[in-house]
Amino acid sequence: MRERLLAAEKVKAIEWREGALQLLDQRVLPLQSVWRRYGDAPAVADAIREMVVRGAPAIGIAAAYGVVLSARVRLAEGGDWRAALEADFQVLADSRPTAVNLFWALNRMRDRLGRLKPEDDVVAALEAVAVSIHQSDREANLTMAQLGAELIRKNQGNPQNLLTHCNTGALATGGFGTALGVIRAAHLEGMVERVYADETRPWLQGSRLTAWELAGEGIPVSLNADSAAAHLMKTRGITWVIVGADRITANGDVANKIGTYQLAVTAMHHGVRFMVVAPSSTIDMSLESGEDIPIEERPGHELLEVNGQRFAADVEAVNPVFDVTPADLIDVIVTEKGIVERPDAAKMAALMSRSRLH
Ligand code: MRU
Repeated sequence: MRERLLAAEKVKAIEWREGALQLLDQRVLPLQSVWRRYGDAPAVADAIREMVVRGAPAIGIAAAYGVVLSARVRLAEGGDWRAALEADFQVLADSRPTAVNLFWALNRMRDRLGRLKPEDDVVAALEAVAVSIHQSDREANLTMAQLGAELIRKNQGNPQNLLTHCNTGALATGGFGTALGVIRAAHLEGMVERVYADETRPWLQGSRLTAWELAGEGIPVSLNADSAAAHLMKTRGITWVIVGADRITANGDVANKIGTYQLAVTAMHHGVRFMVVAPSSTIDMSLESGEDIPIEERPGHELLEVNGQRFAADVEAVNPVFDVTPADLIDVIVTEKGIVERPDAAKMAALMSRSRLH
């Protein structure tokens, strides 16, 4: 399966080339394919905030490369480069609040900085960590794809109808995707009849990104309004809702793209299984429950306008872009360390004490 997934890989959104970060601009996909080059940390922070790069693991990877760029720039400037680097850490940390992968990656980079020896090449040492964060995310996705596909195979006769939300694919990660990685693997094994992709208002990650990734690989996909999900579960024989995560707390609560919570409630009502796929870098054991997760609110114009064109009445918009699904609505969390069925605090602690499977 690993080789078949590697062979099927079509999309990349993050490249570290010639000492610079290259990002495929996700704001203009799928109509345009524009790569942008970043040479310093504040520019990378802007790219994260403005959603040039998005998706929890991808944000963490971009931030790690942002630290490498910062080290190079601040060392070249001379003076107190460590203080200037620390300020850049803060700029990167302030870019988006909910996906813990960002802070996890920054902590890994800070940890390496703390272990530098006088003879070390600072930039090379940090670069090695950033590259390894990037590579290990790809590897984690390959492992999770196989574990998740196995669960789908065990559940019911094949092929099956699956529903997903937001974009959790190659664009959102270091490669292959989390929930979309599972869907890809399931498709390669002939287990997918059709994928229903929620359009994912207001930013339209589903219609612009997920539908594009799946259609590009010949995976049967239909786009639906977010509000059609319950009806589709009732009428289209959907067996699984499969989503990613931005932060999973110690009790198994899951923050993910706004609309995920209502999908979980609806799935339980219809007897549809609910799978969350996320690497362990998305698990935040320092937070007891989802109540503690900072939920990003983005500007109202994302809701009130399409392509900069106002269409809504002249009212205020409320635009929380993530929500929290309580652990008791989740059938299974898939990570590269293994799976957790019916998550709770004890099972999450046991999972996190394991090393990765492959
Ligand atoms: O606002 P976004 O597009 O960054 O939100 C992304 C999501 O909510 C994804 O579902 C999540 O990050 C998992 S991506 C592998």
